[in-house]
Amino acid sequence: MSGINGIETIVYGVEDVGICTRYFTDFGLPLIESSESEALFEMEEGSSVIIRPLDVARTEGQGLVGYGVQKVIWGVPNQKHLDRAVKRLSAVTEVSIDAEGTAHFFDCDGIASGIRVFAKQRVFGAPDPVNSLGTINRLNQHRKWRLKANPKTIQHVVYQTPDPQASWEWYRDNLDFRLSDVQEGFGVFARAPGTLDHHSIYWLRADLPFPGCDGQVRFNHANFGVEDIDEVMVGGNYMERRGWKKSIWGLGRHRIASAVFLYLPCPAGGDAEYGCDSDMHDDSWVPRHWNAGFGTMSFMHNLQPWIFDESPWEVRYVEGTTPKRKERAGH
Ligand SMILES: [Fe+2]
Repeated sequence: MSGINGIETIVYGVEDVGICTRYFTDFGLPLIESSESEALFEMEEGSSVIIRPLDVARTEGQGLVGYGVQKVIWGVPNQKHLDRAVKRLSAVTEVSIDAEGTAHFFDCDGIASGIRVFAKQRVFGAPDPVNSLGTINRLNQHRKWRLKANPKTIQHVVYQTPDPQASWEWYRDNLDFRLSDVQEGFGVFARAPGTLDHHSIYWLRADLPFPGCDGQVRFNHANFGVEDIDEVMVGGNYMERRGWKKSIWGLGRHRIASAVFLYLPCPAGGDAEYGCDSDMHDDSWVPRHWNAGFGTMSFMHNLQPWIFDESPWEVRYVEGTTPKRKERAGH
């Protein structure tokens, strides 16, 4: 694995820094410092979440509209990778390097982005063993008790863009991202090359008939990694007790990536997602093309009208990713 190794920093542009600081503190992000105009959270893996007023967080000329993550700074393991990335990006877009050595640029959708060296720390989980019918993995031992969630990683970001296929191709060609899966008519999942996470970014089609989709480039959500499904739900309950809005979908599991999800409405823009138990991929993965509804979920607590009926079980390999079968003579 080499190249971009994850999300080093996300910078939110918000309406009220104080409210958003309280929100993310309750959500479980470790607060390092805060003032009326800025808050810094630092995850155990070493990545950062920065909260600023929208007009400060915006980059002049950006294509993204609305609140939410205004800038994603991607990490690379060392200067060699940073230099290589800057060289490649400079061929297709303007890149400026600031005093701290961070490269800044706009992606193809006008989303302000950056790259800097990221000494990403390994984080650890020890999920409780699971008992099942006739299978005992915990004997005389209860599951962990928790008070709240403590996310340790930023897993992925999601943006609404007009043409997810074009967005994906730009990240493939210029940042070496890998295709994970395609959700038909909805969007594309891609993995940064230096991670095993199913996806580091997802582009959702901006003109889908969903709330908040108006055809413009907008932030949708960020995912924060926790240990297991219990931590997801304890986190959700804690947020509810603290007075924050409940999740609309409730707890669920996507079929794509097998990931457990809980999306919580977020005053900083879009949703904040607790996530765990996602599939992990390396370059041996063969990308799938999924029926959108089928890929969306194995289950969700609050079935939504658009996905009320069981979706057709339609999955195939993405065209061009598997060798074509040769026609045999005489057949
Ligand atoms: Fe997500």
